[in-house]
Amino acid sequence: MALDLGISQSDALWRPMTQYRTAPAPLLIERGDGCFVWDTHGNRYLDAMSGLWCVNVGYGRHEIARAAGEQMARLAYASPFRPAPVTLELAGTLARMLPGDLEHTYFTNSGSEAVETAIKIARQAQQQRFPGESRYKIIARYRAYHGWTLGSLSATGQADRKSRFEPLLGGFVHVSPAACEDCAVGAHQRCTFDPVDEIERRIRYEGAQTIAAVLAEPIIGGGGVIEPPDDYFPRLRALCDRHGILLIADEVITGFGRTGAMFGCEHWPSALPDIITLAKGLSSGYQPIGATAVSHRVFEQFYGDPGEHREFSQLSTFGGHPVAAAASLANIAIIQRERLAERSAAGGAWLKKEIAGWRHPAIAQVRGRGLMVGLELARNGKRCSEADADRVIARTKESGVLIGRNAATVSGMGNVLTLAPPLSISDAELGTLAAAVRAGLGLLED
Ligand SMILES: Cc1ncc(COP(=O)(O)O)c(C=O)c1O
Repeated sequence: MALDLGISQSDALWRPMTQYRTAPAPLLIERGDGCFVWDTHGNRYLDAMSGLWCVNVGYGRHEIARAAGEQMARLAYASPFRPAPVTLELAGTLARMLPGDLEHTYFTNSGSEAVETAIKIARQAQQQRFPGESRYKIIARYRAYHGWTLGSLSATGQADRKSRFEPLLGGFVHVSPAACEDCAVGAHQRCTFDPVDEIERRIRYEGAQTIAAVLAEPIIGGGGVIEPPDDYFPRLRALCDRHGILLIADEVITGFGRTGAMFGCEHWPSALPDIITLAKGLSSGYQPIGATAVSHRVFEQFYGDPGEHREFSQLSTFGGHPVAAAASLANIAIIQRERLAERSAAGGAWLKKEIAGWRHPAIAQVRGRGLMVGLELARNGKRCSEADADRVIARTKESGVLIGRNAATVSGMGNVLTLAPPLSISDAELGTLAAAVRAGLGLLED
């Protein structure tokens, strides 16, 4: 049934990052199936952003709905002190799936909380491993997004998301993202930028004995799909080891097949993290859930005698919720059965090749791995405007395809179009997506 909401009703809902004085009424999405969603007027769109990079298995998966419904009927809630078997089963499944020995998982309700938890675990683990030192700082990268809570936002490197809430928390040090921004827009002949050298220098200036961890997305997502060079994570891992610093991989976007591997860090198997954060694709958005998994070495820092208070004293009422756990298990079963990580690798490779083949004058770089693709819009070494990017997005929507960009991140750098469809997308649907983007880019042809 079509709803006709007046503005007074639609502003009852306070939507994020929306200026209510000028914003039109929202597009109301009421149904989804596969890669498609339908609005309340019956218009169909191919959702090439998987909601917010999260609906990895696509919409309308009844087996997930059934698993969640049956769990809700059996046991609607369990306290984290007396967890439901299904929550244990999810932790065990993650322990088997995750690379290396990331076998101990703490559950929360969102990506931000997963990052918040990782920061707190890193601080406490380092305090207990190096008593007498004060290893509390987190090194993170500019342009990266890590969440909306005060800790995860302090780690975020996007001025536009932070400026209204400053001053944020102390103890966060930012460094450049892993790839040269001038090369990205084609403005460099000879590049000497070395992002790992910069981190090494920063560690020296700050003092290694003050740093708990380096926090990094394997591939920066919402900040503009920024891929590291191949030696980045192996060198960073070695640097962290040399200084007793923990490496945290924020895999809220890159987890569960998005980049063509089950987890983004698996692209660099010699550089696995000590702590990994997960959300989004963990349940494909069918339920809110976040997770922070740690290695044995980190977990053991929390062992001690009762009077020592070495345990992790954080409690979340809904963390590890049995219904979210049941939905996540059903979602993971689909990802594994349908080999969606492989599908993502093949689909992403096709999409990138197709786009590169257009030799479009306003595309300076096509980036990403798997079905996590970014198009850097630039001409003659200068970024296209955010308004231009928005016009392309609007035209693509007119063709029935929803795409995104790195909006409200760093001033003047919101020129990267983002494509991240469900990993279950068919070849024909990928063709539809590519054709719509190409038509949208027609606006920037001359
Ligand atoms: C890399 C990364 N970390 C953390 C978050 C925060 O997740 P949430 O919005 O579920 O709190 C996001 C959200 O987009 C993200 O992309």
